[in-house]
Amino acid sequence: MSDDLIQRLCASIQKNESMMMADLSLFIEGVAQRQIAVENIEKWLRSVHAHGISVDETTALTRGMMNSGAVLEWQGPKNVADKHSTGGVGDKMSLILAPALAACGLRIPMLAGRGLGHTGGTIDKLESIPGFNCDLTPKQMQDAVQKVGCCIAAQNDAIAPADGLLYAIRDVTNTVDSIPLITASIVSKKAAEGLNALVLDVKCGKAAFMKTEQDALALAESMVGAAKGLGIKTVAQITDMNEPIGSHIGNALEILGSVYVLQGKGSKDTRGLVELQGGQLLSLTGIASSLEQGIQMVSEVLENGEALRFFVEMCVQQGTDRKVAEQLANEPTHVLPKSKHVSSVVATESGFVQSIDAMALAEVARELGAGRFSMSDSINHGIGYVLETSKNQHVSKGQSWVLVHHDIPLSPQHLTQISDALEIGIRATPEFRRLIRIVT
Ligand code: URA
Repeated sequence: MSDDLIQRLCASIQKNESMMMADLSLFIEGVAQRQIAVENIEKWLRSVHAHGISVDETTALTRGMMNSGAVLEWQGPKNVADKHSTGGVGDKMSLILAPALAACGLRIPMLAGRGLGHTGGTIDKLESIPGFNCDLTPKQMQDAVQKVGCCIAAQNDAIAPADGLLYAIRDVTNTVDSIPLITASIVSKKAAEGLNALVLDVKCGKAAFMKTEQDALALAESMVGAAKGLGIKTVAQITDMNEPIGSHIGNALEILGSVYVLQGKGSKDTRGLVELQGGQLLSLTGIASSLEQGIQMVSEVLENGEALRFFVEMCVQQGTDRKVAEQLANEPTHVLPKSKHVSSVVATESGFVQSIDAMALAEVARELGAGRFSMSDSINHGIGYVLETSKNQHVSKGQSWVLVHHDIPLSPQHLTQISDALEIGIRATPEFRRLIRIVT
C-alpha cells in the first residue's frame, strides 16, 4: 500500500500537479505511525526538495504534521501567542519575550529547540539556570501557562512527532533546505501549541540560515501563508543577522544579558528586538491597538520590573528553587556557571566599527565548547563573549572590544579569527537597523 501511495504522490509532485489531499493525509499518518518504509519517505522528500509543492499542499502538510501528536487546547480569550526565530547569534529574545508578554496579559506556551550548527538554542541557554526543567508534557505546559502565563519547553515526541522522523531523514538525505519542508516543520510545532497569534523572526545575513533577503522573503512568505492557512494571525519580521544581537553571546552569558534587559538595563539592540516582536504579538491579539502601542507596553513591563517578576515565576514553576530564581533576578552573576578564564581582545587600529562578524565569533565559540558538532556533544554553558562595542561606535587602537569567556587556552588561530571579526573604518556607517522588512 505504501509503495502505491508514494508512487502516486511522487508522480504528482514531479508533474507539478496537486497531490490528492487524502493521499497526503494517509502519508503523514503513516509517517507518524512508523508505517511507511524509510526508503519511501526518502523518495517523497527528494521529490519535494527537487520540485517544490504549492502553498495549499504546504498548508495541508503542516496541518497533517500538527495533527500527528497532541494539539494544546485553550479556553477563554484568544490571547495565546508565540514567536519563532530561524536562529541567530546572541538571539536570546525568547527568554525575555515569554515573561514580558505574560506580564502584558498574553498566554505563551513556548516550545523551543537546542542549538543547531553555529546558532544557539533557547533550551541549552535555559539549562544553565540551576534546576530549570525544560522537559514538560503537554499537560504540564498547560498547567504552567495557566498558573504563570508562560512556559518554555523542549520540543518532544508528544508534539508533532511526524516532524521528528521527517527531520532525521531530511538530515541524512540532504533535503533540509527545502522551503515547504522547513515551513511545515516549524509551523506544525507552533500550530500544535494552539496559537491565536504568531510572529516569525526570519533572520537574514552571513550568520543566518537564509543568507539573502530574497531567500528570507521566500521562507517568510511560505511560513506566513501556512500559519494563516491554519487560522493563526501571523506576521514575519525579516531581521539582520550579520551583526551579533546585543552584547552577550553564549549560553549562560545570554541568560545574564537577558536578566539585564529584564531589569530595565542591558543592551538596547536586544531590547529593541524584544519590543518589536512583543509589540507585534500584542497588536495581532488586539491587546494593543497598534504596533507602536504594543512596543510601548513591552517597554513598560521591562521598566517596571513586571517582566522580571514573571521570569522568576517561570523559573520556579519549571523547577528552580525560589531563592535561586530570586538571586538570579537580582545578582545573576552569583548564580550562573562561569568559564575558567576571561581574556580581552583589543582593537588593532582606531576608528569606527563597520561590522562585527557574528558568524566568525559563533564558529570560534562552538570550537571553545559553547555549541555542538553532533547532537551527542555536551555544551559548556560558561563559554562565550561579552562585546564591549557595537556597529558604529568609536574604538581606539589597543582598546578591549570583546571579552572571551573560555576554559581551554585560546589558540593563535582562534585569536586571529576573533580579531579579524572586527572591521574598522574611518567613518561611521549609516544608522544600523535590525528590521529589514515586515511580511504580512
Ligand atoms: N528548524 C526546524 O524546526 N525545522 C527545520 O526544518 C529547520 C529549522
